[in-house]
Amino acid sequence: MKVMGIHAGRKNGNSSVLLKEALLVCRESGAEVTMINLHDFNIKYCTGCESCTKNMAMGGKKPFCVWDGKDDMDLIMKEFLVQDGVIIAVPTYDLMPAGIYISFTNRFLPYEAAFLKEIGVKGIKDRVGAVISMGGSTRAWQSMALEGIQATMFTQSIQIVDQILGTKCTNPGAVVLQPDLIERARLLGKNLVKAIHTPVEKREWLGDKNDGWCPVCHSNSLSLGEPHWDGVQWPVECQVCGAGGDIQKDENGKWKFVVAENGLLKCRTIEKGRALHMYEIQAGMKKVMENKEIIKEKMEKYKNISFPSIK
Ligand SMILES: Cc1cc2nc3c(=O)[nH]c(=O)nc-3n(C[C@H](O)[C@H](O)[C@H](O)COP(=O)(O)O)c2cc1C
Repeated sequence: MKVMGIHAGRKNGNSSVLLKEALLVCRESGAEVTMINLHDFNIKYCTGCESCTKNMAMGGKKPFCVWDGKDDMDLIMKEFLVQDGVIIAVPTYDLMPAGIYISFTNRFLPYEAAFLKEIGVKGIKDRVGAVISMGGSTRAWQSMALEGIQATMFTQSIQIVDQILGTKCTNPGAVVLQPDLIERARLLGKNLVKAIHTPVEKREWLGDKNDGWCPVCHSNSLSLGEPHWDGVQWPVECQVCGAGGDIQKDENGKWKFVVAENGLLKCRTIEKGRALHMYEIQAGMKKVMENKEIIKEKMEKYKNISFPSIK
């Protein structure tokens, strides 16, 4: 059993304490544990060149990125893909996961787990994950933190089974003043190990049942539904997993997000739901191909416009 911790905070900072507690439990349960801090690695930004997807479409049999050999991404991903469980711990910056973590996950496209399996890359496991956000404030100032981390897990086909929002931890070390939080991190480690030992089809959410609005991914972020590219629409959607439904009052007068009968159609926690997005991309590409000449002509104007940069 392999478990990897990905840390994106200060060395010996607050998030590292919770991550280490959770990893200790994994190790006590027999896991071979590794932990990396993203600050120790050279990770370049995704340029958006799409060479990775073109490579796969042209029959490539392994991940390809224009940065191969020029940074540490491949080194990390070779380990990340073959884990049984992963724990991600990220500080909250400006309500969201810290940028270094997002830059890292923007580079996931060549390593999209379902694509790699499709082209015959061996050794990728059905991974489970747990996520930890750490902030100086309460949820009010971390409103997109856990949600932002969870959103990065879909392309890795990692099923999230638990999450912790660490609050009120400003300076390094503040977290040790909250023994409940440390205990909760140990439970997160236990839950991850439990999920690893559960058959894939029986794996389920092991975190706090009442966490968040969404009964599927337990995010706290809902948005008003708008028509999708193919016309499908729900009154309300989970911003993170895409479950569709509506908010309703239960018998106790408490508002709940109730997922519609067809509300998991496009749910990103389900491989089938994620796959539908491919058709949306295909439709967009088709439109571009069909209008190649118009695009070429209209783009001339913008190619010839440039403004002075700064010195
Ligand atoms: C640039 C920056 C932005 C921050 N923004 C937030 C924020 O929006 N919400 C919050 O709760 N804490 C915020 N914080 C505080 C950190 O999340 C907090 O200190 C946390 O404990 C850092 O985790 P670490 O010790 O693991 O690095 C911010 C800190 C920095 C440096």
